[in-house]
Amino acid sequence: MNLYSHLARPLLFRFPPEFAHRLTLASLRLPGLAKLLTGNHPAPSDPVKLMGLSFRNRLGIAAGVDKNAEAPMAWKQLGFGFAELGTITLHPQPGNPTPRVFRYPSRQALINRLGFPNLGAQIIAQRLSAARDRNDFGDFPIGLNLGKSKVTPLDKAPADYLASFKILHPVGNFFVVNISSPNTPGLRDLAKPDDLRRLLSTLQEFNRSTTTPKPLLLKISPDVGNSALPEIVAATREFQLAGIVAVNTTLQRTPEDAAEAGGLSGRPLTSRALEVTRLIRPLLDKEQILIGVGGVMNAANYLTRRAAGADLVQVYTGMVYLGPHTAWELLKTS
Ligand SMILES: Cc1cc2nc3c(=O)[nH]c(=O)nc-3n(C[C@H](O)[C@H](O)[C@H](O)COP(=O)(O)O)c2cc1C
Repeated sequence: MNLYSHLARPLLFRFPPEFAHRLTLASLRLPGLAKLLTGNHPAPSDPVKLMGLSFRNRLGIAAGVDKNAEAPMAWKQLGFGFAELGTITLHPQPGNPTPRVFRYPSRQALINRLGFPNLGAQIIAQRLSAARDRNDFGDFPIGLNLGKSKVTPLDKAPADYLASFKILHPVGNFFVVNISSPNTPGLRDLAKPDDLRRLLSTLQEFNRSTTTPKPLLLKISPDVGNSALPEIVAATREFQLAGIVAVNTTLQRTPEDAAEAGGLSGRPLTSRALEVTRLIRPLLDKEQILIGVGGVMNAANYLTRRAAGADLVQVYTGMVYLGPHTAWELLKTS
């Protein structure tokens, strides 16, 4: 019997999604709980070196799960190969009014319109710096996802991202520029070629001036038209980004999906996320990597995403439905 699907999930699903999420994060901070939940099984092993970093396997936690770097050690103990924390903004901000996360179990989906609630770059950098001093992470790469503060106007976006990047640069192993969340007004406009080039050049100019430049990736939306993809990928090549994270949540709905406002994730996103992976792979330079995310709900989805060209894969909604054994479930070989 799977304890999560029979016991813990029905219990957690009685609570509003955001409360259940907070409860989960608080529990995972208890030392030893993650290990207890997973029977202390060794993490799935499929080691790979990418972007100069060593990954013990290719499955990671997607951005949004742990926005404030509350439980980074737990993701390691839950068998994952890496974690992307955030989205982090320069200024602390509360996000949108609640309720702002919605579950659709029959569709294995979520809709969220959180709007980047987080404690801000300064506090999160201090948290991560303390964890690094304790040498908590070891061989577990930590990516940090950067977003625009809501109070910052769109034309000042590059300076806002840059300030966060400077604060967080010493404490992340790689960075992801997020221009693709649907819940910050205007954010997706930053995918327009001129704006995108200005943003990427600002961040890379600083990055290259440091003694240890960090791999920088761009996270894109599934809602950009296929015809816009080549120009976006070309910008990442021009500024020598380490790769692309594809994709964020979608605003698209089929008649079966709920009409609730916000970004849709999980099963309804699987096929579009796979399509974007397939379209982007041949456009990237050889050295660039692709992180595939969106609707990876089972081992078959994981393998298909890998076969479509994803070097690494991430999960968020799948974990809400699968629980603490997600890494073993998605990475099982038979
Ligand atoms: C509740 C929730 C919050 C999210 N927050 C963020 C975020 O802060 N930054 C980000 O780049 N993506 C965020 N995402 C998007 C996920 O990282 C991922 O790209 C998307 O959900 C698709 O993957 P999935 O189908 O496995 O959930 C969020 C997703 C969910 C469901």
